[in-house]
Amino acid sequence: MEHLIAPSVLAADFANLQRDVEMINHSEADWFHIDVMDGLFVPNISFGMPVIKAIKKHAQKTMDVHLMIENPDRYIVDFKNVGADILTVHYEACTHLHRTLQAIKAEGMQAGVALNPHTPIAVLEDVIRDIDLVCLMSVNPGFGGQSFIENTYKKIIQLKDLIEKSGSTAKIEIDGGVNDKNAGKLLVAGADVLVAGSFVFKSDNPTETIAGLKSVSI
Ligand code: DX5
Ligand code: ZN
Repeated sequence: MEHLIAPSVLAADFANLQRDVEMINHSEADWFHIDVMDGLFVPNISFGMPVIKAIKKHAQKTMDVHLMIENPDRYIVDFKNVGADILTVHYEACTHLHRTLQAIKAEGMQAGVALNPHTPIAVLEDVIRDIDLVCLMSVNPGFGGQSFIENTYKKIIQLKDLIEKSGSTAKIEIDGGVNDKNAGKLLVAGADVLVAGSFVFKSDNPTETIAGLKSVSI
């Protein structure tokens, strides 16, 4: 499969959000990656429904919504209503993960599970066939602009192995500290989707930076 690029809107200029959404529309990016933080599961608060609705109004690509919130079951229907196509919850925030995944799919969305850097791949063994996307956090969630954690490569290889052995169709997404230095190695290890926030939006030409990530070949 050709790899996908998902720029993280967290790093966009919120005072020029429409401009940055249009930039992604016209770029080689595949998805919009949208980070929701509640100040409880992670120390930071990002944005909620009204902002996602505003993004959706202009976005012409898949809305990949990453929930860094406690007890996400409370809001599954709301995220569907504001335009999420893929809804990713954290393993660490879900007591009844299987039920949560079924509830996401019942709303017609694809179901994703994110793992913190310290959470082993093995916890997904009994649920991997119910997952459309596994988001491996390559930084501790909560903030953009952090350094990539090298242990991620090992986890990608382990996850790829679990997916192949179980017959799951889950995609592997890498989130945090992705740049032109680690993109190739991440794809070689087995990544399908690369999220990039700061690397895209802090660059001089975000459109070209996205094209560069998209053209990385292995
Ligand atoms: C981190 C978020 C990431 C973040 C990535 O908690 O989940 O999606 O926006 O930003 P960069 O690419 O700057 O690490
Ligand atoms: Zn994210």
